Amino acid sequence: MQKVQEELSYLPEEAVSEIARFLGLSKSEIFGVATFYAQFRFTRSGEYTVKVCLGTSCYVRAGARIMETVQRKLGIKPGETTEDYKFSLERVACFGCCALSPVMVVDKTVYSRMTPIKAKQVLSSYH
Ligand code: FES
Repeated sequence: MQKVQEELSYLPEEAVSEIARFLGLSKSEIFGVATFYAQFRFTRSGEYTVKVCLGTSCYVRAGARIMETVQRKLGIKPGETTEDYKFSLERVACFGCCALSPVMVVDKTVYSRMTPIKAKQVLSSYH
């Protein structure tokens, strides 16, 4: 399942069916295992994954405003992907770098001490 997700960036239903057939298990058994682990996605994700931290340190330093700005700019909510499959948005409880809060991460790039204006600039740089 990890290999399939690595290739496709998510586990489409057809892939789950194929995995089940290959292992001689039912689709629901495969879904049961896959849904147990947070790492598996069942919808196609965007080219870039934007993660906004809403942990305590980020939250008290305007993390919620950063999230609102990102949602407005992309037109999606956490857990969703833009129609053009460019961006997916996720909320994170803490990246473990609270001294840099508020924090936003795009794929593996960490953006620290974010402001709503900086968040818009970062997103624009990915277009
Ligand atoms: S609370 Fe945001 S990085 Fe820790």
